[in-house]
Amino acid sequence: MLFIIKRLTFVVSGSCQSMLRRNVLLCKRACTGPLDTRLVLGIETSCDDTGAAVMDETGRILGESSHTQKDVHLKTGGIIPVVAQRLHKENIARVVQEALDKSGIAPRDLSAVATTVKPGLALSLGIGLQYSLNFIQEHKMPFIPIHHMEAHALTVRMIQSVPFPFLVLLISGGHCLLAVARDIDDFLLLGQALDEAPGDTLDKVARRLSLVKHPKCSTLSGGQAIELMAQEGNRLKFHFKSPMGQHYDCNFSFAGFRNQVTQVISKKEEDEGIQPGEILSCVSDIAAAAQYTVASHIAKRTHRAILFCKAKGLLPQNSPSLVVSGGVACNQYIRKTLQIVTDATGLDLHCPPAKLCTDNGVMIAWNGVEKLRKGKGIVAHTANIRYEPKAPFGTDITGQVKEAEIKVPPLKLKISQ
Ligand code: KG4
Ligand code: ZN
Repeated sequence: MLFIIKRLTFVVSGSCQSMLRRNVLLCKRACTGPLDTRLVLGIETSCDDTGAAVMDETGRILGESSHTQKDVHLKTGGIIPVVAQRLHKENIARVVQEALDKSGIAPRDLSAVATTVKPGLALSLGIGLQYSLNFIQEHKMPFIPIHHMEAHALTVRMIQSVPFPFLVLLISGGHCLLAVARDIDDFLLLGQALDEAPGDTLDKVARRLSLVKHPKCSTLSGGQAIELMAQEGNRLKFHFKSPMGQHYDCNFSFAGFRNQVTQVISKKEEDEGIQPGEILSCVSDIAAAAQYTVASHIAKRTHRAILFCKAKGLLPQNSPSLVVSGGVACNQYIRKTLQIVTDATGLDLHCPPAKLCTDNGVMIAWNGVEKLRKGKGIVAHTANIRYEPKAPFGTDITGQVKEAEIKVPPLKLKISQ
C-alpha cells in the first residue's frame, strides 16, 4: 500500500472564528498567514506510562494525554509486566482519543503515527504497536517506528536549538548511557550500564528503606523519594564506595553499590532494633549518601566522555553541549553535579523540563516530526514491523573509549541540597 503524506493547509486571515473546520488548532496559532503543516500522532507504551500527543511540524504540541501506572506499581513494589500490559490495554484508546480531542484534529488529517517499538517491556511495547497498526490500517497513513532512547536523546531539540553533534547522557529506570548524537539516526555509543540502571537502583533503595510508608513520599517514585529525603540528610554520615574506580571507561555499574547500601540498611535495622519495613531514624542520611554516590559515579563517567570527545574531535569547538535526559535527569542534585562537570570542561548543559525527561507521548511525536522532516524512517509497509524489547543504541565504540584509558582529574563535587 502506498501512502501520500498528508499536509494540512489552513488559510488564515483575520478572525480565528471564521476559519475552516479546525478552529481549535487555528486559535492556538497566531493568525498571520497561510499555514501548511504536517501533523504527527506520537504513542508511547514502552514501560509503565501510556502517553499520546499530537504535534505539528514546528514541534508545537496541539494535544497530549497520559496515564501513569505509578500508583499501582508502588503498591506492588515494582512493575509487574502483565499488570503493566493490562493497564496499557485498558487506557490506550482513551489516552489517544484525549490527545486527539484536545488538538481538535481528526485522524484523517494526521500525516503519520509515530510509536515506540524498542527497547522496553515486551508486553507493554506490544500494546502500543498493535494499537498503532490498527489505527494506521483504519485511517490509511504511514508509520514511524521509534527507538525510545533516541527519542529521549533528541527531546531537548523541541525546546531549544541544540545542533548536532552533541554529547548526550541518558539516565532512566531502564537505561544509562553516554553517546554522541551526530544526526537524528546516527549515534556513537561511548558507555552504558553493565548491570542495572540508576533509576532502577534508586527505586530499589527507596523500597528497601520503605519510603512509600513515609508520609512525605507515599505518592513519589523511588528516585523522587530519595531526592526529597536527601534534602534533610547529611551525606557524610555514610560512605559508599564509588563504582568502577579502576575502570577507565565510560560504562556504569550500580548493582554492587546497591548491595553496599542494602548491607548498611540491614546493619542499621539491627542497631536500632527495628524490622525491615519500618523506617530507620537515619533514613535521610542514607538517602543523601546514596544520591551523592550515584551522582558522583554519573559525573565521573560523563567527565571522561567529555575528555574522550575532546581528544577525538567529536564535538564542535564552539559551544559544545551536553544534553541530559531520562527520568533520573529530573533530579536537581544530579543536574547540579553535572553542571560542575560542564563548567569545568567548557560545555553547555541542556536538560529538558522534568515533565519531558520522564516517559511521555510528546517526545515520541517529536521524534516522529524530526524523522518526517528529514524523510527518514517512514514506513509504508508494516507487515515486518516487530517490537524489540532489547535494542542496541547507535554504533558501539565503548571499546575505543576503554583503550584510550583517560584519567579524569579530581573535581570537587560540593553541592548544597
Ligand atoms: O525515563 P523514565 O520515565 O522511564 C524509563 O524509561 O525508565 O524514568 C523513570 C525513572 C524511575 O526509576 C524514577 O525513580 C526515576 O526515573 N526518577 C528519578 C526522579 N524522578 C524520576 N530519579 C531520581 N530523582 C528524581 N527526581
Ligand atoms: Zn524512558
